Parts: sequence; structure tokens; C-alpha cells
Amino acid sequence: MTTAAEPRLAEHFEATIARHDRIEPRDWMPEAYRATLVRQIAQHAHSEVIGMQPEGDWLTRAPSLRRKAVLLAKVQDEAGHGLYLYSACETLGVTRRELTEKLLDGRQKYSSIFNYPTLSYADVGTIGWLVDGAAICNQVPLCRTSYGPYGRAMIRVCKEESFHQRQGFELLMTMMRGTDEQREMVQESVNRFWWPALMMFGPPDDASPNTARSMAWGIKRDTNDELRQRFVDMSVPQAEVLGVTLPDPELAWNEQRQAHDFGEPDWDEFWAVVNGDGPCNAQRIEHRRRAHDDGAWVRAAATAFAARQAEGGRGR
Ligand code: 3HC
Repeated sequence: MTTAAEPRLAEHFEATIARHDRIEPRDWMPEAYRATLVRQIAQHAHSEVIGMQPEGDWLTRAPSLRRKAVLLAKVQDEAGHGLYLYSACETLGVTRRELTEKLLDGRQKYSSIFNYPTLSYADVGTIGWLVDGAAICNQVPLCRTSYGPYGRAMIRVCKEESFHQRQGFELLMTMMRGTDEQREMVQESVNRFWWPALMMFGPPDDASPNTARSMAWGIKRDTNDELRQRFVDMSVPQAEVLGVTLPDPELAWNEQRQAHDFGEPDWDEFWAVVNGDGPCNAQRIEHRRRAHDDGAWVRAAATAFAARQAEGGRGR
């Protein structure tokens, strides 16, 4: 419904964005801005929660109590990131119930990277190093996103993400200083995760229907390709320190660009995984649906307790 005040409100919104100030939940905002934020923040939150599964598969098989404790802390952090992001999304007028239903029935997405299996223990380190490393490249600029609750949620997420990336790198470094078999396990893991990690940043800018508008609204502060380049440039020296080879024959330093040239990800694979045909899509959603169903009694009890409290009854 448009009102007479709307042109002035739209002007104020545009001026706020132009000043790189924050839009807050009670501010007027174009419906398309709100819808874009719901889409991106929900996908981000879903990614955090689904992202617990690949590493969670190794909790019972961690090789030491220390590795188990570190992995447990990391997986729990991801759950917390999901909660911060669902809370930020709820400030836009959607409910967690709606968001969960849309995830489970495929109307909302989560990151493609989590549709790949974790086949060896080295994957726990590779996910920390590369996946959380990519997440850091993507999430640090989001601390400056134009929507207040999203940017503020990112500050704590990024602090914890740095621990995630360091623990993964340290795990891989330990294995690389181990036996030949451990070194082969690490290299095989990096070979499987390198290209899917590049795909985390989304399609190329010229194939992205959302990037231009998200940049104009200050939701994104960098484009998909800019962040992908930043991640490659960050990862190459780290791979050299680790002693692993990144599986891209076109990877080379370009003196003129002062950046690394690298090959093209398989975008057919990317779109297939995004559209549900990845190695683990069905398994991930089935697991999430089972967890949601198993938790129904908790939601019912909490709702009943809240109703009793509201009636002024004494909760038992
Ligand atoms: N996986 C799944 N879908 C993806 C994707 C990916 N890696 N990259 C893009 N897409 C989807 C988009 O959602 C969009 O589909 P939609 O319009 O139906 O939502 C379509 O592909 C076109 O992509 P665009 O680039 O135009 O879409 P966006 O502007 O939304 O950019 C994005 C995609 C860069 C992922 C952006 O949404 C973003 O920055 N999101 C926030 C960060 C995030 O979600 N990270 C995911 C990982 S979380 C994580 O790693 C946790 C860590 O702890 C491990």
C-alpha cells in the first residue's frame, strides 16, 4: 500500500544508504530491500545449521579428546551463528517456523559447500581452513552491511570464524608433519574441497541476478568475483606453508594484476548442486527434517509453558 509520505520515506532511505549509514528494523524500507535481506540472511542462517552436519559426522571419530573438544566447540559455534542470523531475520517480520518450513520444502537455499561429503578426517581440517576461510572473506565485509541487525550479528560470527579457520589450519599442519599416509589424506581432501570452496562465493558477477542490486543497497560490499579473488590470494601462500598443492593448473601470480590468475570453477556442477543434485542434498535435508521432528515436543512444551505463564498460572 503506497502512502503520500512514501516518496519522502524513499528519499530518506536512499540518503541513508548513500551515507553508508544503517537501516534499522523500524525504518521504512522498500519491500524489495526487505525481501532480499530475508532471502540472504535466511540462506546464511540455514547454511550455518546445515553446515554442522559434515563435521558433526566426525565428532565420534576424532582421534583424541583434544581434537574432539575443539571440533565440538566449533560445531556448537555454528549452531549459535544460525541462531544469531535467524534472530536478525526475524526483525524483518518473518518467523523461524516459516524459515524452517521454507528450508525443508526447498523454497529457501543453503550453501552448496555443505552438500559435499566428509570422507576422511582430514576433511575436518580442510573445512576449517578453506570453508571457514572462505566464510571469513565473505563475512568480514558483511560486518558493514547496510542492515543493522545483520551487520551486528556478523561481528561476533567473524570473531568465532577466525578460531574455526585457525583450528583447521593447525590440524592440517599437524597431519602434514605426520606420516606419508597423513600427507596423502590431506592432499586428497584439498583436491575435493578446493573448487566447491570457490563456488561458495556464488556465480560469476555477470551471471548473478542479485549482486548489482545488493551492492547498490549496501547489502553486499564486494561482488562475488571480488571476494573469490580475495580468497584465492589469501589461500595460495597458506597452501605453500602447509605444503599442499591447490588443484588448479592455471593458478599463477599475475604481476601486472598483483593477484593470482586461476581457472574457472565448473558452473554446471555449481548449478546442479544449488538446484538439489549434489552428492548430499537429500541426506542433509532429511537429517534437518528428522531433527526438526524430534524437537517438536520441546517446542510444544515451551509454547505451553509460555501460555501458562501468560495466563498468570504458576509454571511447573
Ligand atoms: N550455494 C547455494 N546457493 C547459492 C550459492 C551457493 N554457494 N551462491 C549463490 N547461490 C544462489 C543465490 O542464493 C541465488 O539464488 P536465489 O536468488 O534463489 O536466492 C542464486 O544462486 C544467484 O546467486 P547470486 O550471487 O545472485 O545471489 P546472492 O546475491 O544472494 O549472493 C551469496 C550469493 C554470495 C552466497 C550471498 O547470498 C551471501 O553473501 N550470503 C551470505 C554468506 C553466506 O550465506 N555464506 C554461506 C556459507 S555460511 C558458512 O560458510 C558458515 C561457516 O561457518 C562455515
